[in-house]
Amino acid sequence: MAQENIESTLHEDRQFPPSKAFVDTASLHAEQLEALYQRAEQDHEGFWADVARAEIDWKQPFAKTLDDSNAPHYRWFPDGKLNVSYNCLDRQLEKNADKTAIIFEGEQGDVEHISYRDLHQRVCVFANALKAQGVTKGDRVVIYMPMITEAVIAMQACARIGAIHSVVFGGFSASSLKDRIEDTGAKLVITADGGHRGGKIVELKNTTDQALDGACDTVETVIVFKRTGHDVRMNPSRDVWWTDITRDQPDTCEPEWMDAADPLFLLYTSGSTGKPKGIQHGCGGYLLNAITSMRWVFDIQDSDVFWCTADVGWITGHTYVAYGPLATGATQVIYEGVPTVPDAGRFWDVCQRHGVTIFYTAPTAIRALMKVGDDVPKGYDLSALRLLGTVGEPINPEAWMWYYNVIGGGRCPIVDTWWQTETGAHMIAPVPGVTHAKPGSCTRPLPGIDAAIVNDDGEEITKANQGGYLVIRKPWPSMIQTIWGDDQRYKDTYWPYFDGKFYLAGDSARQDVDGFYWIMGRIDDVLNVSGHRLGTMEIESALVAHPKVAEAAVVGRPHDVKGEAVFAYVVLKGERPEGGIDDEMTQELRNWVGTEIGPIAKPDDIRYSDNLPKTRSGKIMRRLLRAIAKGEEITQDTSTLENESILLQLQGKA
Ligand code: PRX
Repeated sequence: MAQENIESTLHEDRQFPPSKAFVDTASLHAEQLEALYQRAEQDHEGFWADVARAEIDWKQPFAKTLDDSNAPHYRWFPDGKLNVSYNCLDRQLEKNADKTAIIFEGEQGDVEHISYRDLHQRVCVFANALKAQGVTKGDRVVIYMPMITEAVIAMQACARIGAIHSVVFGGFSASSLKDRIEDTGAKLVITADGGHRGGKIVELKNTTDQALDGACDTVETVIVFKRTGHDVRMNPSRDVWWTDITRDQPDTCEPEWMDAADPLFLLYTSGSTGKPKGIQHGCGGYLLNAITSMRWVFDIQDSDVFWCTADVGWITGHTYVAYGPLATGATQVIYEGVPTVPDAGRFWDVCQRHGVTIFYTAPTAIRALMKVGDDVPKGYDLSALRLLGTVGEPINPEAWMWYYNVIGGGRCPIVDTWWQTETGAHMIAPVPGVTHAKPGSCTRPLPGIDAAIVNDDGEEITKANQGGYLVIRKPWPSMIQTIWGDDQRYKDTYWPYFDGKFYLAGDSARQDVDGFYWIMGRIDDVLNVSGHRLGTMEIESALVAHPKVAEAAVVGRPHDVKGEAVFAYVVLKGERPEGGIDDEMTQELRNWVGTEIGPIAKPDDIRYSDNLPKTRSGKIMRRLLRAIAKGEEITQDTSTLENESILLQLQGKA
């Protein structure tokens, strides 16, 4: 995909300025944006201090903006005190108590409107219940929930009492859940009996039971929300029902006043080596960029109905579901299910019925919905939409144009937002009332974000269209604080080169003649499947854990909907299957990976060979495997290959 994208985007020079109608109502105009850039350029810290004072309600104002004494562990607003949940809920009560905070729609069609007053009360009740279960400031709480309002309530309640939440995506397996719970040392797990997804029930409670079986000794309590009502086993010494523990709790709860640099949450993401890492975000800085990006990139306004389709299990669902929209007093839609139930018109039906004005989703979803044809979206009234967004992977210009014309009716700007779990919020993205978008480019860094492209020596590449490493040179408020429990890994992963001067994003990129950024792909062994990061090594470890597998190598191959698909080369213990084909074994291994990691990691292709291609020093030739997976002619020098005869097997020709 990355390569194909480079090919198609290199020739992409169309520009799409915002319409006059959009500019007329946009909150940020060219002169104001320019002033922000200038201020940030002149005084980076002063700029962020101003914005932090304007956007956050502080219990105790900060005097110091940035503590860099232990860099690269930067601490923003270190002597300031605040509470994130207070900033999301309490401060809306004065003007917006009756405003709808959340329009929830279940996959089966149940709809609920929740006002800020109501949401505040429910969060307070649950926060009190958590306290009654013995959760205190700094404790870790793992949340393994469906995409329902209670997931947001659980996150907000943790933030309110200073507990550190770690949300695990409901599609992850028991084994992935167990690893994450153990790494966090969580005291408590919040789950549900199940959730509705794809017309089926996701067995969250059963999976939690499997994860905890004989493991995760730190967990004392499991809170279970009743969503589906189907039968689940409750362990009386450990499990409690959400309704039972909240029944008698008061609906106010004094927030825990936190240091701005205290941790707010951990979110696990894949890297190129080892186990997934717990990305730690802090309170003040994270909240600040959640707010600024809601304003600058989403142009959020009082009358908007905002819908970010991401699950709360991912960073996008943290910043643009659980925190950003609430901190800016917005009305947002939360939808439990998949876009194709009952049919591929579901997203557009939700947009129409709830009057969605800002819609934010991933290129993989756009491509999947594009495939079913224009007639489906054309059957819905999408005229309320005024702004569209994408995130997670490069969007190919064809999908961009379809999104722009068919969904946006040619009138809605598209914000292509580049950022990462580690950056906490948008870093490179258009300001929709100002930027002239180009299909496939995430455009320019936001004010106060000092991005650059550098070469191997850390020198800035200023020549147009020359690719290099994407780095961020100055700290920014919502930056990763550390990898939970592993400061050294944090330094090694993100600050490895150039004397630790730059944050290394792990992406390659180029800038065009206008200084616009084009993301080219990952520089490490991380795949981007449907906008989700998967480490090749993680999948390889899962495969070799299967009793019949001797060795495995995993690469990505382009996929027209998912962006990238998982391609695995497997060496079995014993005989290689006849002709390299064994459908039963393939099914078994796919299911195995699904159980070990989660369905998103299942390989699309598995090829069996007698051995893996290695250099004489024993290194797996991944570049070669990638070329074969793409079906490319082999141009690499294979003379160093120890076992050249297996090439035909790898190509599926023998
Ligand atoms: O490779 C980039 C890609 O997704 C990676 C971050 O993945 P994750 O931490 O899971 O967060 C995804 C949601 C923020 C990046 O290193 N990526 C993200 N957004 C874009 C993108 N690639 C191109 N264009 C984007 N807009």
